[in-house]
Amino acid sequence: MADTLTITDNRTGRQYEIPVVDDTIRALDLRQIKVDPDDFGMMAYDPAFLNTASCRSTVTFIDGEKGILRYRGYPIEQLAEQSTFVETAYLLVNGELPTAGQLADWQDELSQHVMLHESVKKFVEGFRYDAHPMGIFLSTVGALSTFYPDAKAVDDPQSRRRQTIRLIAKAPSIAAYAYRHSVGKPYVYPDDDLSYTGNFLSQLFKRTEPVYRPDPVLERALDVLFILHADHEQNCSTSAMRGIGSSHADPYAAMAGAAAALYGPLHGGANEAVLRMLAKIGSADNVPAFVQSVKNGEGRLMGFGHRVYKSYDPRAKVIKATADQVFEVTGRNPLLDVALELERIALEDEYFVERKLYPNVDFYSGLIYQAMGFEPAMFTVLFAIGRTAGWIAQWEELLSDETRKIARPRQVYVGEGRRDYVAMAGR
Ligand code: CMC
Repeated sequence: MADTLTITDNRTGRQYEIPVVDDTIRALDLRQIKVDPDDFGMMAYDPAFLNTASCRSTVTFIDGEKGILRYRGYPIEQLAEQSTFVETAYLLVNGELPTAGQLADWQDELSQHVMLHESVKKFVEGFRYDAHPMGIFLSTVGALSTFYPDAKAVDDPQSRRRQTIRLIAKAPSIAAYAYRHSVGKPYVYPDDDLSYTGNFLSQLFKRTEPVYRPDPVLERALDVLFILHADHEQNCSTSAMRGIGSSHADPYAAMAGAAAALYGPLHGGANEAVLRMLAKIGSADNVPAFVQSVKNGEGRLMGFGHRVYKSYDPRAKVIKATADQVFEVTGRNPLLDVALELERIALEDEYFVERKLYPNVDFYSGLIYQAMGFEPAMFTVLFAIGRTAGWIAQWEELLSDETRKIARPRQVYVGEGRRDYVAMAGR
Protein backbone atom coordinates (compact mmCIF):
# COMPACT_ATOMS: atom_id res chain seq x y z
CA MET A 1 0.00 0.00 0.00
CA ALA A 2 1.53 3.31 -1.09
CA ASP A 3 1.70 6.04 1.54
CA THR A 4 0.21 8.62 -0.77
CA LEU A 5 -3.04 10.42 -1.35
CA THR A 6 -4.33 10.79 -4.88
CA ILE A 7 -6.25 13.98 -5.51
CA THR A 8 -8.29 14.52 -8.64
CA ASP A 9 -8.94 18.15 -9.51
CA ASN A 10 -12.34 18.03 -11.16
CA ARG A 11 -11.78 21.51 -12.61
CA THR A 12 -9.00 20.21 -14.82
CA GLY A 13 -9.25 16.42 -14.60
CA ARG A 14 -5.61 16.33 -13.45
CA GLN A 15 -4.44 13.95 -10.75
CA TYR A 16 -1.85 14.61 -8.08
CA GLU A 17 -0.09 12.12 -5.86
CA ILE A 18 0.68 13.60 -2.46
CA PRO A 19 2.94 11.85 0.09
CA VAL A 20 1.36 10.87 3.42
CA VAL A 21 3.65 10.95 6.47
CA ASP A 22 2.28 10.25 9.96
CA ASP A 23 -1.29 10.33 8.57
CA THR A 24 -0.65 13.87 7.43
CA ILE A 25 -0.16 15.63 4.13
CA ARG A 26 1.95 18.76 3.82
CA ALA A 27 -0.23 21.76 3.01
CA LEU A 28 2.56 23.01 0.74
CA ASP A 29 2.12 19.94 -1.45
CA LEU A 30 -1.29 21.31 -2.38
CA ARG A 31 0.30 24.37 -3.98
CA GLN A 32 1.06 22.46 -7.19
CA ILE A 33 -2.71 22.13 -7.80
CA LYS A 34 -3.54 24.89 -10.27
CA VAL A 35 -6.01 25.57 -13.05
CA ASP A 36 -3.65 27.95 -14.87
CA PRO A 37 0.13 27.96 -14.56
CA ASP A 38 -0.12 31.57 -13.27
CA ASP A 39 -2.43 30.62 -10.38
CA PHE A 40 -1.04 30.87 -6.84
CA GLY A 41 -2.04 27.25 -6.23
CA MET A 42 -4.33 25.47 -3.80
CA MET A 43 -4.21 26.28 -0.08
CA ALA A 44 -5.93 24.71 2.96
CA TYR A 45 -8.40 27.04 4.72
CA ASP A 46 -8.43 26.39 8.48
CA PRO A 47 -9.06 29.62 10.40
CA ALA A 48 -9.01 28.25 13.96
CA PHE A 49 -6.55 25.42 13.20
CA LEU A 50 -9.27 22.81 13.67
CA ASN A 51 -7.38 20.26 11.61
CA THR A 52 -3.94 21.68 10.99
CA ALA A 53 -0.76 20.43 12.69
CA SER A 54 1.56 23.40 13.16
CA CYS A 55 4.60 21.40 14.25
CA ARG A 56 6.03 17.97 14.96
CA SER A 57 6.48 17.61 18.69
CA THR A 58 7.77 15.09 21.24
CA VAL A 59 6.55 16.93 24.34
CA THR A 60 2.90 16.07 25.00
CA PHE A 61 0.50 13.48 23.64
CA ILE A 62 -3.28 13.84 23.84
CA ASP A 63 -5.96 11.45 22.61
CA GLY A 64 -9.10 13.53 23.00
CA GLU A 65 -11.53 10.71 22.22
CA LYS A 66 -10.05 8.38 24.84
CA GLY A 67 -9.22 11.08 27.41
CA ILE A 68 -5.46 10.39 27.40
CA LEU A 69 -2.79 12.95 28.33
CA ARG A 70 0.91 12.12 28.55
CA TYR A 71 4.01 14.27 29.05
CA ARG A 72 7.01 12.77 27.19
CA GLY A 73 5.13 9.46 27.23
CA TYR A 74 4.30 9.40 30.97
CA PRO A 75 0.56 9.28 31.82
CA ILE A 76 -0.65 12.41 33.62
CA GLU A 77 -2.26 10.28 36.36
CA GLN A 78 1.12 8.72 37.25
CA LEU A 79 2.90 12.06 37.27
CA ALA A 80 0.16 13.62 39.43
CA GLU A 81 0.44 10.75 41.88
CA GLN A 82 4.20 10.19 42.00
CA SER A 83 6.07 13.20 40.62
CA THR A 84 6.55 16.78 41.77
CA PHE A 85 6.09 19.90 39.67
CA VAL A 86 9.83 20.59 39.71
CA GLU A 87 10.58 17.09 38.43
CA THR A 88 7.79 17.32 35.83
CA ALA A 89 9.18 20.65 34.63
CA TYR A 90 12.58 18.96 34.19
CA LEU A 91 10.92 16.14 32.26
CA LEU A 92 9.08 18.55 29.96
CA VAL A 93 12.13 20.69 29.26
CA ASN A 94 14.74 17.92 28.98
CA GLY A 95 12.69 15.03 27.65
CA GLU A 96 13.61 12.48 30.36
CA LEU A 97 13.01 12.05 34.09
CA PRO A 98 16.05 13.28 36.04
CA THR A 99 18.40 11.11 38.09
CA ALA A 100 18.69 12.06 41.77
CA GLY A 101 21.77 14.19 41.00
CA GLN A 102 20.17 15.93 38.03
CA LEU A 103 17.09 16.70 40.09
CA ALA A 104 19.15 18.13 42.94
CA ASP A 105 21.08 20.37 40.50
CA TRP A 106 17.86 21.47 38.80
CA GLN A 107 16.26 22.31 42.16
CA ASP A 108 19.37 24.17 43.21
CA GLU A 109 19.49 26.21 40.00
CA LEU A 110 15.81 27.05 40.30
CA SER A 111 16.15 28.22 43.89
CA GLN A 112 19.06 30.49 42.91
CA HIS A 113 16.83 32.34 40.45
CA VAL A 114 13.61 32.75 42.44
CA MET A 115 14.32 36.35 43.44
CA LEU A 116 13.14 39.27 41.37
CA HIS A 117 15.33 42.27 40.66
CA GLU A 118 14.46 45.09 43.06
CA SER A 119 13.42 47.25 40.12
CA VAL A 120 10.70 44.72 39.30
CA LYS A 121 9.16 45.60 42.66
CA LYS A 122 9.02 49.26 41.68
CA PHE A 123 7.51 48.30 38.35
CA VAL A 124 4.74 46.28 40.02
CA GLU A 125 4.10 49.08 42.51
CA GLY A 126 3.14 51.27 39.56
CA PHE A 127 -0.03 49.26 38.96
CA ARG A 128 -3.32 50.46 40.42
CA TYR A 129 -4.31 48.80 43.70
CA ASP A 130 -7.14 46.89 41.94
CA ALA A 131 -5.16 45.82 38.85
CA HIS A 132 -6.01 42.29 37.72
CA PRO A 133 -3.12 40.02 38.80
CA MET A 134 -3.06 38.38 35.38
CA GLY A 135 -2.51 41.80 33.78
CA ILE A 136 0.35 42.38 36.23
CA PHE A 137 1.74 38.88 35.58
CA LEU A 138 1.89 39.14 31.81
CA SER A 139 3.29 42.69 31.81
CA THR A 140 5.96 41.80 34.36
CA VAL A 141 7.02 38.72 32.40
CA GLY A 142 7.36 40.99 29.34
CA ALA A 143 9.29 43.56 31.38
CA LEU A 144 11.86 40.89 32.38
CA SER A 145 13.04 41.07 28.78
CA THR A 146 14.63 44.44 29.63
CA PHE A 147 16.52 42.92 32.59
CA TYR A 148 18.10 40.06 30.64
CA PRO A 149 19.43 41.32 27.30
CA ASP A 150 21.41 38.07 26.98
CA ALA A 151 18.04 36.40 26.30
CA LYS A 152 18.16 37.81 22.78
CA ALA A 153 20.74 35.15 21.87
CA VAL A 154 18.01 32.65 21.09
CA ASP A 155 20.34 30.54 18.95
CA ASP A 156 22.65 29.94 21.90
CA PRO A 157 21.59 26.81 23.85
CA GLN A 158 23.39 28.08 27.01
CA SER A 159 21.43 31.33 26.93
CA ARG A 160 18.18 29.44 26.33
CA ARG A 161 18.90 27.29 29.36
CA ARG A 162 19.53 30.35 31.54
CA GLN A 163 16.22 31.92 30.52
CA THR A 164 14.44 28.59 31.03
CA ILE A 165 15.62 28.42 34.63
CA ARG A 166 14.83 32.08 35.22
CA LEU A 167 11.30 31.84 33.87
CA ILE A 168 10.34 28.67 35.74
CA ALA A 169 11.93 30.03 38.93
CA LYS A 170 10.53 33.54 38.75
CA ALA A 171 6.97 32.83 37.56
CA PRO A 172 5.73 32.10 41.14
CA SER A 173 7.55 35.16 42.50
CA ILE A 174 5.85 37.41 39.95
CA ALA A 175 2.50 35.75 40.67
CA ALA A 176 2.97 36.18 44.43
CA TYR A 177 3.96 39.78 44.07
CA ALA A 178 0.96 40.50 41.82
CA TYR A 179 -1.21 39.04 44.59
CA ARG A 180 0.53 40.89 47.44
CA HIS A 181 0.17 44.12 45.50
CA SER A 182 -3.57 43.55 45.09
CA VAL A 183 -4.00 43.10 48.86
CA GLY A 184 -1.60 45.90 49.79
CA LYS A 185 1.03 43.69 51.41
CA PRO A 186 4.81 43.88 50.97
CA TYR A 187 6.81 41.55 48.77
CA VAL A 188 8.06 38.44 50.62
CA TYR A 189 11.60 37.29 49.89
CA PRO A 190 12.04 33.60 49.06
CA ASP A 191 12.87 30.97 51.65
CA ASP A 192 15.38 28.44 50.31
CA ASP A 193 14.39 25.86 52.92
CA LEU A 194 10.99 25.44 51.33
CA SER A 195 10.01 23.50 48.22
CA TYR A 196 9.18 25.32 44.97
CA THR A 197 5.47 25.29 45.81
CA GLY A 198 5.98 25.75 49.57
CA ASN A 199 8.07 28.83 48.87
CA PHE A 200 5.34 30.17 46.59
CA LEU A 201 2.80 29.74 49.41
CA SER A 202 5.18 31.55 51.74
CA GLN A 203 5.60 34.40 49.25
CA LEU A 204 1.81 34.65 49.07
CA PHE A 205 0.65 34.23 52.62
CA LYS A 206 3.55 34.95 55.00
CA ARG A 207 2.76 37.63 57.55
CA THR A 208 5.04 38.63 60.43
CA GLU A 209 5.97 35.11 61.55
CA PRO A 210 9.74 34.51 61.21
CA VAL A 211 9.26 31.29 59.23
CA TYR A 212 6.20 30.31 57.20
CA ARG A 213 5.26 26.63 57.29
CA PRO A 214 2.82 25.66 54.53
CA ASP A 215 0.16 23.03 55.27
CA PRO A 216 1.63 19.88 53.62
CA VAL A 217 -1.73 18.78 52.17
CA LEU A 218 -2.33 22.16 50.52
CA GLU A 219 1.28 22.37 49.35
CA ARG A 220 0.99 18.95 47.70
CA ALA A 221 -2.43 19.79 46.20
CA LEU A 222 -1.10 22.97 44.60
CA ASP A 223 1.96 21.08 43.34
CA VAL A 224 -0.36 18.51 41.73
CA LEU A 225 -2.37 21.34 40.13
CA PHE A 226 0.86 22.76 38.69
CA ILE A 227 1.69 19.30 37.26
CA LEU A 228 -1.77 19.01 35.69
CA HIS A 229 -1.48 22.43 34.06
CA ALA A 230 2.15 22.10 32.98
CA ASP A 231 1.56 21.41 29.28
CA HIS A 232 -1.21 20.70 26.84
CA GLU A 233 0.43 20.59 23.40
CA GLN A 234 -0.56 23.20 20.81
CA ASN A 235 -3.26 25.13 22.69
CA CYS A 236 -3.96 28.82 22.13
CA SER A 237 -1.26 30.17 24.48
CA THR A 238 1.39 27.64 23.44
CA SER A 239 0.70 28.47 19.81
CA ALA A 240 1.21 32.15 20.77
CA MET A 241 4.51 31.22 22.47
CA ARG A 242 5.71 29.36 19.40
CA GLY A 243 4.35 31.99 16.99
CA ILE A 244 6.15 34.84 18.77
CA GLY A 245 9.23 32.70 19.40
CA SER A 246 9.43 31.92 15.69
CA SER A 247 10.26 35.59 15.02
CA HIS A 248 13.28 35.14 17.38
CA ALA A 249 11.85 37.52 19.97
CA ASP A 250 13.31 36.70 23.39
CA PRO A 251 11.40 34.21 25.58
CA TYR A 252 10.14 36.89 27.99
CA ALA A 253 8.41 38.70 25.12
CA ALA A 254 7.11 35.38 23.81
CA MET A 255 5.85 34.28 27.21
CA ALA A 256 4.15 37.62 27.81
CA GLY A 257 2.20 36.92 24.61
CA ALA A 258 1.45 33.36 25.71
CA ALA A 259 0.20 34.61 29.09
CA ALA A 260 -1.99 37.17 27.31
CA ALA A 261 -3.58 34.35 25.31
CA LEU A 262 -4.10 32.34 28.50
CA TYR A 263 -5.89 35.30 30.13
CA GLY A 264 -8.97 34.92 27.88
CA PRO A 265 -12.09 33.27 29.37
CA LEU A 266 -12.19 30.63 26.63
CA HIS A 267 -8.72 29.45 27.68
CA GLY A 268 -7.07 29.83 31.12
CA GLY A 269 -9.49 32.54 32.18
CA ALA A 270 -12.21 29.87 32.32
CA ASN A 271 -11.33 28.83 35.90
CA GLU A 272 -12.14 32.33 37.13
CA ALA A 273 -15.30 32.40 34.99
CA VAL A 274 -16.43 29.04 36.47
CA LEU A 275 -16.27 30.37 40.01
CA ARG A 276 -18.18 33.51 39.07
CA MET A 277 -20.77 31.31 37.31
CA LEU A 278 -21.15 28.97 40.33
CA ALA A 279 -21.52 31.95 42.67
CA LYS A 280 -24.17 33.44 40.38
CA ILE A 281 -26.12 30.16 40.27
CA GLY A 282 -25.94 30.23 44.09
CA SER A 283 -27.57 26.91 44.99
CA ALA A 284 -28.16 23.45 43.52
CA ASP A 285 -31.90 24.25 43.13
CA ASN A 286 -31.10 26.90 40.53
CA VAL A 287 -29.05 24.54 38.35
CA PRO A 288 -31.86 23.28 36.03
CA ALA A 289 -32.87 26.86 35.13
CA PHE A 290 -29.24 27.77 34.50
CA VAL A 291 -28.67 24.73 32.26
CA GLN A 292 -31.79 25.70 30.32
CA SER A 293 -30.45 29.23 29.81
CA VAL A 294 -27.21 27.76 28.40
CA LYS A 295 -29.24 25.59 26.03
CA ASN A 296 -31.19 28.70 24.98
CA GLY A 297 -27.89 30.21 23.90
CA GLU A 298 -27.74 32.75 26.75
CA GLY A 299 -24.13 31.90 27.65
CA ARG A 300 -21.79 28.95 27.94
CA LEU A 301 -21.40 26.47 30.72
CA MET A 302 -17.89 27.53 31.72
CA GLY A 303 -15.48 24.70 32.54
CA PHE A 304 -17.24 22.43 30.06
CA GLY A 305 -16.19 21.46 26.58
CA HIS A 306 -12.81 21.30 24.95
CA ARG A 307 -11.42 21.61 21.45
CA VAL A 308 -9.53 18.33 21.81
CA TYR A 309 -11.22 16.27 24.56
CA LYS A 310 -14.46 14.69 23.46
CA SER A 311 -14.62 12.69 26.70
CA TYR A 312 -13.90 13.43 30.36
CA ASP A 313 -10.76 15.56 30.66
CA PRO A 314 -8.26 13.29 32.52
CA ARG A 315 -7.00 16.33 34.44
CA ALA A 316 -10.52 17.03 35.76
CA LYS A 317 -10.67 13.48 37.19
CA VAL A 318 -7.45 13.99 39.17
CA ILE A 319 -8.59 17.44 40.32
CA LYS A 320 -11.88 16.07 41.60
CA ALA A 321 -9.96 13.59 43.77
CA THR A 322 -7.55 16.31 44.95
CA ALA A 323 -10.52 18.50 45.92
CA ASP A 324 -11.62 15.96 48.53
CA GLN A 325 -8.18 16.03 50.20
CA VAL A 326 -8.13 19.83 50.22
CA PHE A 327 -11.64 20.17 51.62
CA GLU A 328 -10.67 17.90 54.52
CA VAL A 329 -8.22 20.61 55.58
CA THR A 330 -10.07 23.76 54.56
CA GLY A 331 -13.67 22.66 55.01
CA ARG A 332 -16.00 21.98 52.12
CA ASN A 333 -16.47 24.73 49.57
CA PRO A 334 -20.28 25.29 49.56
CA LEU A 335 -20.17 25.84 45.79
CA LEU A 336 -19.08 22.20 45.35
CA ASP A 337 -22.73 21.13 45.60
CA VAL A 338 -23.65 23.50 42.79
CA ALA A 339 -20.77 22.14 40.67
CA LEU A 340 -21.67 18.50 41.34
CA GLU A 341 -25.32 19.10 40.45
CA LEU A 342 -24.31 21.01 37.33
CA GLU A 343 -22.09 18.14 36.25
CA ARG A 344 -24.79 15.55 37.02
CA ILE A 345 -27.46 17.33 35.00
CA ALA A 346 -25.18 18.30 32.13
CA LEU A 347 -23.81 14.77 31.70
CA GLU A 348 -27.38 13.46 31.32
CA ASP A 349 -28.66 16.25 29.12
CA GLU A 350 -28.96 15.57 25.39
CA TYR A 351 -27.53 19.01 24.45
CA PHE A 352 -24.23 18.29 26.22
CA VAL A 353 -24.15 14.55 25.41
CA GLU A 354 -24.67 15.17 21.68
CA ARG A 355 -21.90 17.76 21.58
CA LYS A 356 -19.59 15.63 23.77
CA LEU A 357 -19.22 18.39 26.34
CA TYR A 358 -17.58 17.14 29.55
CA PRO A 359 -15.99 18.94 32.51
CA ASN A 360 -12.52 20.24 31.65
CA VAL A 361 -9.54 21.08 33.87
CA ASP A 362 -11.06 24.41 34.89
CA PHE A 363 -14.36 23.07 36.22
CA TYR A 364 -13.13 21.97 39.67
CA SER A 365 -9.74 23.73 39.99
CA GLY A 366 -11.31 27.06 41.01
CA LEU A 367 -13.17 25.41 43.90
CA ILE A 368 -9.86 24.15 45.27
CA TYR A 369 -8.12 27.48 44.76
CA GLN A 370 -10.95 29.31 46.51
CA ALA A 371 -10.91 26.88 49.44
CA MET A 372 -7.16 27.51 49.74
CA GLY A 373 -7.80 31.23 50.11
CA PHE A 374 -7.23 32.53 46.57
CA GLU A 375 -9.44 35.19 45.02
CA PRO A 376 -10.90 34.22 41.59
CA ALA A 377 -8.71 36.85 39.92
CA MET A 378 -5.63 34.80 40.91
CA PHE A 379 -6.81 31.53 39.38
CA THR A 380 -5.48 32.11 35.88
CA VAL A 381 -2.15 33.24 37.32
CA LEU A 382 -1.89 29.87 39.08
CA PHE A 383 -2.55 28.16 35.75
CA ALA A 384 0.22 30.29 34.21
CA ILE A 385 2.81 29.18 36.81
CA GLY A 386 2.32 25.52 35.88
CA ARG A 387 2.07 26.24 32.15
CA THR A 388 5.37 28.16 32.18
CA ALA A 389 7.16 24.78 32.09
CA GLY A 390 5.22 23.73 29.00
CA TRP A 391 5.57 27.05 27.20
CA ILE A 392 9.32 27.01 27.69
CA ALA A 393 9.65 23.32 26.72
CA GLN A 394 7.73 23.99 23.51
CA TRP A 395 9.79 27.13 22.84
CA GLU A 396 13.00 25.12 23.32
CA GLU A 397 11.72 22.45 20.93
CA LEU A 398 10.91 25.14 18.36
CA LEU A 399 14.33 26.77 18.59
CA SER A 400 16.33 23.58 18.57
CA ASP A 401 14.64 22.56 15.30
CA GLU A 402 16.99 23.65 12.54
CA THR A 403 14.24 23.55 9.93
CA ARG A 404 12.10 26.12 11.75
CA LYS A 405 10.74 29.16 9.98
CA ILE A 406 8.87 32.24 11.12
CA ALA A 407 5.15 31.46 11.58
CA ARG A 408 3.30 33.26 8.85
CA PRO A 409 -0.13 31.96 7.84
CA ARG A 410 -1.74 32.75 4.51
CA GLN A 411 -5.18 34.27 4.04
CA VAL A 412 -8.05 33.99 1.61
CA TYR A 413 -8.53 37.57 0.49
CA VAL A 414 -12.25 38.35 0.09
CA GLY A 415 -12.12 42.19 0.05
CA GLU A 416 -12.53 44.74 -2.73
CA GLY A 417 -10.66 44.45 -6.00
CA ARG A 418 -8.42 47.31 -7.16
CA ARG A 419 -10.19 50.67 -7.06
CA ASP A 420 -9.09 54.29 -7.42
CA TYR A 421 -8.76 56.66 -4.48
CA VAL A 422 -11.77 59.02 -4.20
CA ALA A 423 -11.05 62.56 -3.03
CA MET A 424 -13.00 63.72 0.07
CA ALA A 425 -15.36 65.92 -1.93
CA GLY A 426 -16.37 62.95 -4.07
CA ARG A 427 -17.33 60.48 -1.24
N1 CMC B 1 -21.39 25.48 27.01
C1 CMC B 1 -22.40 25.35 26.12
N2 CMC B 1 -22.24 24.99 24.84
C2 CMC B 1 -20.98 24.74 24.44
C3 CMC B 1 -19.89 24.84 25.30
C4 CMC B 1 -20.11 25.22 26.65
N3 CMC B 1 -19.12 25.34 27.51
N4 CMC B 1 -18.75 24.55 24.62
C5 CMC B 1 -19.13 24.26 23.38
N5 CMC B 1 -20.48 24.37 23.26
C6 CMC B 1 -21.31 24.08 22.08
C7 CMC B 1 -21.18 25.19 21.06
O1 CMC B 1 -22.19 26.16 21.26
C8 CMC B 1 -21.36 24.43 19.77
O2 CMC B 1 -22.72 24.14 19.62
P1 CMC B 1 -23.39 24.20 18.14
O3 CMC B 1 -22.72 23.08 17.39
O4 CMC B 1 -24.84 23.99 18.38
O5 CMC B 1 -23.07 25.54 17.58
C9 CMC B 1 -20.65 23.10 20.04
O6 CMC B 1 -20.73 22.92 21.46
C10 CMC B 1 -19.19 23.08 19.63
O7 CMC B 1 -18.54 24.22 20.24
P2 CMC B 1 -17.35 25.03 19.60
O8 CMC B 1 -17.38 26.42 20.11
O9 CMC B 1 -17.34 24.83 18.11
O10 CMC B 1 -16.12 24.24 20.20
P3 CMC B 1 -14.64 24.74 20.22
O11 CMC B 1 -13.80 23.54 20.11
O12 CMC B 1 -14.42 25.82 19.22
O13 CMC B 1 -14.51 25.40 21.67
C11 CMC B 1 -14.08 25.72 23.95
C12 CMC B 1 -13.84 24.83 22.73
C13 CMC B 1 -13.24 25.19 25.11
C14 CMC B 1 -13.63 27.15 23.62
C15 CMC B 1 -15.57 25.70 24.32
O14 CMC B 1 -15.98 24.38 24.65
C16 CMC B 1 -15.91 26.66 25.46
O15 CMC B 1 -16.15 27.84 25.20
N6 CMC B 1 -15.93 26.17 26.74
C17 CMC B 1 -16.17 27.04 27.86
C18 CMC B 1 -14.88 27.73 28.23
C19 CMC B 1 -13.91 26.82 28.91
O16 CMC B 1 -14.26 26.09 29.83
N7 CMC B 1 -12.63 26.89 28.49
C20 CMC B 1 -11.56 26.13 29.10
C21 CMC B 1 -11.01 25.10 28.19
S1 CMC B 1 -9.97 23.93 29.09
C22 CMC B 1 -8.62 24.85 29.64
C23 CMC B 1 -7.75 25.32 28.56
O17 CMC B 1 -7.13 24.50 27.89
O18 CMC B 1 -7.69 26.53 28.37
